[in-house]
Amino acid sequence: MWFGLVVTFEYTQAFFILIYYWIKALGRVLFVHDVEKNVENETILVTGAGSGLGRGVAKRLAALGATVVLWDVNEKGNEDTKRQILDSWSSAKVLKSFLGSMLAANRGHIVTIASGAGIFGISKLTDYCSSKYAAVGLHDALTAELKQQHKYGIQTTVICPTFINTGMFHGVSGTATSVSLLDENYVCDSIVEAIRKNKHFVMLPPSTTLFYILKGLLPNECTGRFLRFFGLSNAMDTFVGRK
Ligand SMILES: NC(=O)c1ccc[n+]([C@@H]2O[C@H](COP(=O)([O-])OP(=O)(O)OC[C@H]3O[C@@H](n4cnc5c(N)ncnc54)[C@H](O)[C@@H]3O)[C@@H](O)[C@H]2O)c1
Repeated sequence: MWFGLVVTFEYTQAFFILIYYWIKALGRVLFVHDVEKNVENETILVTGAGSGLGRGVAKRLAALGATVVLWDVNEKGNEDTKRQILDSWSSAKVLKSFLGSMLAANRGHIVTIASGAGIFGISKLTDYCSSKYAAVGLHDALTAELKQQHKYGIQTTVICPTFINTGMFHGVSGTATSVSLLDENYVCDSIVEAIRKNKHFVMLPPSTTLFYILKGLLPNECTGRFLRFFGLSNAMDTFVGRK
């Protein structure tokens, strides 16, 4: 009896916490217009800078006056990006070493490029989905850890796009118009905007956020039906990728 009352009380409290944050989030969407932060003279590490999104984002951030640290296993691609930006460079360092100084200064921004494949399991993308679910997990756990340590000065952002026309997923087909191949420039612009507005979680196109919200509410069978409806279940059948 006593145990039951305590559990009921805790769930009631949790429910009111939920309502409070829903109202807060709604108010933010409706009434608060985010101001873009200034990234001039900031030092920003961009991984995968030798191609696609990494190169596009690095170029945009450099144009905004940031010092961009390029990091890519493809040295030639990295050098090409460097030539395209013509800016001053520091050497690449691993995330952990960045994190140490960020924690000390209680300042910084960590952006994780995950994917819609980090939210939904897609057929024939088992290994990729595994790594992207891990990326979303890294973002979630890191965010929780930073908050727990009261490091409110360090922002975290995770980006989850559907397929993009960078070439990585060349050949994928069958996706509905509403989730058709995204334009690389649109995604790069959205990433930089998300950084400057300190957005925490971004799905691209934004309409896919609806499915993320519904995912926890829908019967599993229905989620599968949606993936088939939007052509994501067999999108990889025609995958070619980069040769
Ligand atoms: N292209 C898409 O459709 C799509 C969709 C959703 C998410 N994403 C994600 O966006 C990110 C960028 O994708 P892209 O389309 O620009 O791909 P891309 O292949 O054009 O660029 C990826 C770059 O990362 C570099 N790289 C790979 N492993 C690395 C490592 N361990 N350390 C440093 N650099 C490394 C590669 O050499 C390459 O230059 C990836 O994480 C990808 O999974 C892409």
